[in-house]
Amino acid sequence: MRLNKIVFPVAGLGSRFFPATKSTPKEMLPVVDKPLIQYAVEEALEAGFTELIFVTSKSKTSIRDHFDSKLNTNLSNVTKEKKELLNKMNKIIPDGILCKYVFQEEPLGLGHAILQAKPIINDEPFAVILADDLIDAKTGVLRQMVDLYRDTKSSIISVHKIDKAYSAQYGIASITDKSQKIMKLTDIVEKPQPEEAPSNLGVVGRYIFCNEILQSLENISFGTGNEIQLTDGIKLMISTSSVYAYEFEGIRYDCGDKLGFIKANIEYALRNKIFGNELESYLKSRLKK
Ligand code: G1P
Repeated sequence: MRLNKIVFPVAGLGSRFFPATKSTPKEMLPVVDKPLIQYAVEEALEAGFTELIFVTSKSKTSIRDHFDSKLNTNLSNVTKEKKELLNKMNKIIPDGILCKYVFQEEPLGLGHAILQAKPIINDEPFAVILADDLIDAKTGVLRQMVDLYRDTKSSIISVHKIDKAYSAQYGIASITDKSQKIMKLTDIVEKPQPEEAPSNLGVVGRYIFCNEILQSLENISFGTGNEIQLTDGIKLMISTSSVYAYEFEGIRYDCGDKLGFIKANIEYALRNKIFGNELESYLKSRLKK
């Protein structure tokens, strides 16, 4: 079955960014001039997904507005250039792509968020992307994973090497063969302390799932942080089917964290054609002080 559907869990409280995220979803925070969620959507479109499912909360409407609302291009005073810009803003989502929105009434965890999309996912395989994991890659990580899925037809989760001291911020993967880029997953633990972490492979927010993950998620109870954890669903699924861990190519910025978010802004701003060089000179002079 073809992979068409992708879930964007965007209903979290974003408490690490309070007060900025009190009424604005953290996924709407911009890296330079584009909200995180738009980077995620563009990565999904590049990978060929055609049905985008946003799991959002009723009180946060700005994500839907960002993609669905239309700016008025017929104002009498708009110049040709401005009109082109407004038209571009009205076409962030290209024709033929479906956006659907479901609600997560309470922030009960990532696994719970994904289950809210079940009526739309039906019996199909699907992907999940966490927009606060911004990954700078020549070929988008989802594209890399979709290419692998074509051969494996199995669930694939993305991982990268982390400093074990930070293991309590990640799902940590155990694998069989460490010599390959794609490896069979043997175990996974959500946010273990460094001394309990089975490896230094941290899960990053890109996943492709066979449909049975939904059944696994329905059969687990509350885990770490008193939430329904996606990691626990994956762990249960390993007992019945193959799951692979893929060490992706790219640089990941943890934009759910203030420092990671600032680093992403600096890196992406340094590449900006208009002010990148000026920013670099500024940073150099600032560091000399
Ligand atoms: C979630 C997952 C975790 C994963 C991480 C990647 O945690 O639960 O397994 O490693 O995303 O960013 P969160 O960062 O939402 O707490």
